[in-house]
Amino acid sequence: MNMLVEPLQKFATNSLEQHWAPFTANRDFKADPRLIVKSEGCSLWNHKGDRVIDGSSGLFNVAAGHGRREIADAVFAQMQANDYTPHFQIGHPGSFALAAKLSAILPEPINHVFFTNSGSESIDTALKIAMAYHRARGDGQRIRFVSRERAYHGVNMGGVSLSGMVKNRETFPVVMPNVVMMRHTWTPENTFVRGQPETGAELADDLQRAVDTYGGSTIAAVFVEPVAGSTGTLVPPKGYLERLREICDAHGILLVFDEVITGFGRIGKPFAADLFGVTPDIMTMAKALTNGALPMGAVAVRDEIYETVTGAAPDEAIEFFHGYTYSAHPAACAAGLATLDIYEREGLFEKAAANADYFLDAIWSLKDLDAVFDLRGIGLLAGVEVHPVPGKPGVRGTALQKKLFWAGLHVKFTGDTGIVAPPLIAERSDIDEIVDILRKVLGAEA
Ligand SMILES: Cc1ncc(COP(=O)(O)O)c(C=O)c1O
Repeated sequence: MNMLVEPLQKFATNSLEQHWAPFTANRDFKADPRLIVKSEGCSLWNHKGDRVIDGSSGLFNVAAGHGRREIADAVFAQMQANDYTPHFQIGHPGSFALAAKLSAILPEPINHVFFTNSGSESIDTALKIAMAYHRARGDGQRIRFVSRERAYHGVNMGGVSLSGMVKNRETFPVVMPNVVMMRHTWTPENTFVRGQPETGAELADDLQRAVDTYGGSTIAAVFVEPVAGSTGTLVPPKGYLERLREICDAHGILLVFDEVITGFGRIGKPFAADLFGVTPDIMTMAKALTNGALPMGAVAVRDEIYETVTGAAPDEAIEFFHGYTYSAHPAACAAGLATLDIYEREGLFEKAAANADYFLDAIWSLKDLDAVFDLRGIGLLAGVEVHPVPGKPGVRGTALQKKLFWAGLHVKFTGDTGIVAPPLIAERSDIDEIVDILRKVLGAEA
């Protein structure tokens, strides 16, 4: 055990009782804790001093790898110069610099950025922007939103209302009304299809059915993850996103891409909008915006949306009654600027694209294992779905996440799908190591 791990172990394991951990089986975890006490590059070290390779980039956010000195230095310098400025009616230069730098890599004409502190807050903010935009145009009768089965849009009440994952909503029945669900895009015939399936584009016609049922003029926006991430990497069928765009255009409905996972190079282009060649009206982001170093999210909108909402208010009046104490926190802005610098300087989006085939080949080498039910993936994002324990969905996935951890690999499981997403800095040897451990552990499953 090294010098750093030992004292931290004593501290960290002193008492686990008081912290109610999120999305965690608390009683089980506290009986068999899995703590990380050090991280660097693609590596984590657990409280026993063992190395664990990070196969999910933390929670898909640590794209440039752990322990980036440039980010820590930028945050430290910012905290010393100016630790906090509220952004209500005053401000600080970092937010404008970050918004400009982010706009430069966003698709045209998406050039205006509202900062939040998480993906969940980005979703609530996007819902409100959609409402504010329609109201500013005198189109306030658009009271409906469209989402999708198996969608994950975070955990605030807006995101829960849009959620298509039963466990995330059945305990919380009092949600936003008027949300209509489209079907998800997974079909049995697309099992083991790599990249975009050839079939399934017609599932986008569920949006047309909502239009035909409720009237297109009552629908404010449709929210989709371009690649559904948390539900296990559902890659959109060819033509699907294009069809959604067409239907939205025909009926004045805003198209929102939730790029909280797909943004910042994860699937081989800066954003999914670039890869699929479909430009939404609103994009939500978070996670890799600061490389996970500090909490931050963002909502980016087309020029026309910003101009309509800000133009509709009288002079000197606040145009959009929304914002957080920590919107555009100076330290988070410094972390964001340093992170975007790293992506650019190290060409990490291009590196992800260059390694994508190698990564997906490695993942598809698991196809022969009896435990594997399906493989899906695009860029450096893959879903490895195992057969469930009969009648007990999710049980095998939870057990596997623990087994993999003790075998030296961190992979986030949702239900029975492991979501594999190595940091964009990963070398091919890191990918080999991740897949070797997957093979060993999944291969031992009955
Ligand atoms: C697509 C998507 N939207 C929103 C969120 C919520 O982000 P956060 O956990 O930062 O609130 C997530 C988190 O995984 C996500 O994957």
